[in-house]
Amino acid sequence: MRITTTVNGEHYEVDDVWEGESLLYALRERMGLPGSKNACEQGECGSCTVYLDGLPVCACLVAAGQARGRDIMTVEGLASDDDLHPIQQAFIESGAVQCGFCTPGLLVQTHDLLTRDPDPNDAEIREALAGNLCRCTGYEKILDAVRLAAVRMSSPPGSTQ
Ligand code: FES
Ligand code: FES
Repeated sequence: MRITTTVNGEHYEVDDVWEGESLLYALRERMGLPGSKNACEQGECGSCTVYLDGLPVCACLVAAGQARGRDIMTVEGLASDDDLHPIQQAFIESGAVQCGFCTPGLLVQTHDLLTRDPDPNDAEIREALAGNLCRCTGYEKILDAVRLAAVRMSSPPGSTQ
């Protein structure tokens, strides 16, 4: 089947999608967007997290056919032109990226958290990221990154605060 959808503000038409094909597969293999990672394909790890109509979802659990006519944003949509998003920059500077497999999902989930709550406490960060598993970092550096991103996003460059 053919699906038409919008990803990161761009229109996509994808042919030969088969029944049961996941949105994650379609993004990575048909649309050339490999940022979302396939780590478990069972909704357990959060590495494939994308926005679907503004809500974070595990793309491995969404059928590609369900994306027809919907609005999707992947991790590739966070950066603008050549500039990393402040969340991406904070993850790098905090040492929260090791193998990087969990990172795209964490970035999208953190973006959702800080959009809803610009100043979350540690418990709120942990709860928001509870569905995103990381085997490498021990999570402390991820918390550091989210705290740093929150500060920077509430006090953009040039701010006098
Ligand atoms: S690959 Fe989708 S949740 Fe793990
Ligand atoms: S950095 Fe390797 S799984 Fe998180």
